[in-house]
Amino acid sequence: MTARPEVEEFDHPDVVVVPHGPMLLRGATSVQGVDGTVHDVRRPVVALCRCDKSSRLPFCDGTHKVIPRR
Ligand code: FES
Repeated sequence: MTARPEVEEFDHPDVVVVPHGPMLLRGATSVQGVDGTVHDVRRPVVALCRCDKSSRLPFCDGTHKVIPRR
């Protein structure tokens, strides 16, 4: 397995919930979707969809920006 220094500098992921938007995960190495599929994470920060409308679930694709707010 190859080391990924941009991820290893964190002890654990940081989580930021964006109002009316995604959940940002910093330092994650993988994400498991609701169907059980495990996605490798290769970026220092990933955006996870919270509106369930993304075409790239479990990741945010920006679709939340065009969904009317309740
Ligand atoms: S939160 Fe961005 S597409 Fe769902």
